[in-house]
Amino acid sequence: MTETISVTWIGSDGNRTTADVPLGHSLMEAAVYNSIPGVIGDCGGALACATCHVVVEETPVPLEEKSGTEADMLDFAEAPAEPSSRLSCQIRAARELDGIVLRVPTVSALA
Ligand code: FES
Repeated sequence: MTETISVTWIGSDGNRTTADVPLGHSLMEAAVYNSIPGVIGDCGGALACATCHVVVEETPVPLEEKSGTEADMLDFAEAPAEPSSRLSCQIRAARELDGIVLRVPTVSALA
């Protein structure tokens, strides 16, 4: 049996979804698989689209630092980046992240 962790998303529609994500899967892939509103993953995880932007609301342990490329790509995200913004294709399900909560930022209608 594949080991999983629990991941919760607060989608762009405000609804919470919790799913079991197999270890090693990217949290972008998991969001797309679970039809989380607002996570698209256009580039398939190649750090080329920023449509997997999430804000880390709660995490059991600090995430690894983002790479320079990830930080640069966050500048191109549709919703403005927040201090704990990440590209979820760069976060892999790991045991220590069990219980992580991610919010999908919304784009202001006036932006
Ligand atoms: S899926 Fe394109 S940057 Fe994450």
